[in-house]
Amino acid sequence: MASQFRAISLLGVSQSVKLRKSKQLNEDTIRGHYATQVLIALINSGFMDELESGEAVSVSSFAAREDLDAVVLQALCDYAYELEYLNQNGIGYTLSDKGRLVDQVLKGALLSVYAYADVFANLEPLLRRQKVYGVDVQRRSKYVAVGSGLSAKLLAIPAVSKLLLDAKRTRILDLACGDAAFLINMCTSEARFTGYGVDIAPEAIAEGNEELARHGLTSRVQLLVADMFAMDTSFQDVADIDATTCIYALHEFLSDDNQRLLELLRKYRSRFPGVPLYVCEVIRHSPEELRRNPGGVMEIQLLHMLSNQRLATQAEWHDIFRRAGFGTIEEIYLDFARTAVFVAA
Ligand SMILES: C[S@@+](CC[C@H](N)C(=O)[O-])C[C@H]1O[C@@H](n2cnc3c(N)ncnc32)[C@H](O)[C@@H]1O
Repeated sequence: MASQFRAISLLGVSQSVKLRKSKQLNEDTIRGHYATQVLIALINSGFMDELESGEAVSVSSFAAREDLDAVVLQALCDYAYELEYLNQNGIGYTLSDKGRLVDQVLKGALLSVYAYADVFANLEPLLRRQKVYGVDVQRRSKYVAVGSGLSAKLLAIPAVSKLLLDAKRTRILDLACGDAAFLINMCTSEARFTGYGVDIAPEAIAEGNEELARHGLTSRVQLLVADMFAMDTSFQDVADIDATTCIYALHEFLSDDNQRLLELLRKYRSRFPGVPLYVCEVIRHSPEELRRNPGGVMEIQLLHMLSNQRLATQAEWHDIFRRAGFGTIEEIYLDFARTAVFVAA
């Protein structure tokens, strides 16, 4: 109270009110930006992994061991401590409950921010047409896959795995598998699953192969670097599957006329006749709907629009599957996450 009176006597009422409101806006707006950057740096430097062990981590020892700037690391840790992501004892830092939760459930979203960081660092040149996405500005493919895979663990992976098990389908081809997060989770949760994964990004497949080896799954899952548009010629090894999945990937080929996506789906139907295709996608919402009822889909739509991608509505997806020639299209809409699983056969 005393400090409020001091502010009013120094600045006057109207300026003091503005100052108080700016503090509130700062908390709502600016802090998220800084906190996100700091958390990404702590994850990518390996500091978060080190904290996962539960032992206190000393800034000076970690910086010396990993050849990092101790002053910069200290600044990041101070901020993360102030925001209660970290706790401190005499020896070093540990994860707080909030920090542990971030590590468990927000890492995927944070790494997706990192994957598209170049876009946001170049917004003005993109806006002024001085740079073009895909030519001068790129996303980081490895982190697109790893971020998406970690986020998928929260929803898409358990949801699609359950649908496959309910339908007694266990021999899976995962298209655009990224770092194989889906196949690995599926196989570790249920011994009957086996699979193939295909992705165009060699970095994602390399990451997936490392994880497969770590989980002892190399005999059950085979990964392939390939363009899924070449499935008619380059999927020779893929045989005896009873379902195909494609998680958070088909939207990459949406366009004004959707001809490319239709070509892909028609190719799929002729290469794997009768094998049901399970597609998991975040559903597009209008700005009006999102203003009324905000959610994570807002940031997903923003970064997609800035990188030549888009999402589709439920009706648009039904239309696409129908035009591609699928006879039955079942939809399981997870409204709480604005995500749908389509089973097209
Ligand atoms: C958003 S990620 C989804 C990854 C994974 N399905 C998941 O849920 O974690 C999209 C993936 O599609 C892959 N991709 C894009 N175009 C592709 C193509 N033509 N053929 C195969 N994979 C492709 C990318 O490399 C990327 O790993």
